Amino acid sequence: MASNAPIGVFDSGVGGLSVLREIRALLPHESLLYVADSGHVPYGEKSPEFIRERCGFLAEFLLKQGAKALVVACNTATVAGVAQLRELYPQVPVVGMEPAVKPAAAATRSGVVGVLATTGTLKSAKFAALLDRFAHDVRVVTQPCPGLVERIEAGDLSSAATRDLLQGFVAPLLAEGCDTLILGCTHYPFIKPLLSSLVPPSIQLIDTGAAVARQVQRLLAAGDLLSSGPAAATAFWSSAAPLNMQAVMPALWGQTAPVKALLR
Ligand code: DGL
Repeated sequence: MASNAPIGVFDSGVGGLSVLREIRALLPHESLLYVADSGHVPYGEKSPEFIRERCGFLAEFLLKQGAKALVVACNTATVAGVAQLRELYPQVPVVGMEPAVKPAAAATRSGVVGVLATTGTLKSAKFAALLDRFAHDVRVVTQPCPGLVERIEAGDLSSAATRDLLQGFVAPLLAEGCDTLILGCTHYPFIKPLLSSLVPPSIQLIDTGAAVARQVQRLLAAGDLLSSGPAAATAFWSSAAPLNMQAVMPALWGQTAPVKALLR
């Protein structure tokens, strides 16, 4: 595999753009491909079997486009599908995501950590194992956030309706004494400004996009796959109406970009 081949990144929708931004910032010489499976969003309420099937389809698509590595820029898809991808493509570096329990456990002063994530992530065995491993000395309070991903998909990052929805998720975590909140879904960094306005300034908000970008860098370096550039224009696909994604690109990606249709 040539080192100037692109990195393939996918998510259930536009949330993985929060990870793609970090990869672009850390690795500006890399060419990037991004697929938003917005035709099937949200993954958070779907079965692991369904999500695994989508992961297989999206990974195969990206590899056919020439991807040298895969990033599952979705916590929910990672718990359901990353093991299968590593088994299917043992020669391809595959990076997944998980809620930042370890850094949050190190950061909390109150000893109570809140996790905002999808239902699928929170009820997975992988998440239970993460708590077993890193959360013995802290209390972890979890909060599923149904409906939030849909608002972010629509580019609604700050309306009164989004604020009310988010307030309803955050208030119980604050009442439990959480001083550290984990954004355990790649869509949520986009509502960080709104979230910051709803919590006291002392509350720490932790997400994993930058750590994932560093892991991509490590794996590429280990496989001698880091590109020296120049990077091609980032290519985007959506399995929902491409115009919907195009409309939110300025807010979520920082610039306009053409989006192609991914059928199925
Ligand atoms: N962005 C995804 C995650 O990180 C999931 C959103 C969804 O429910 O589709 O978990």
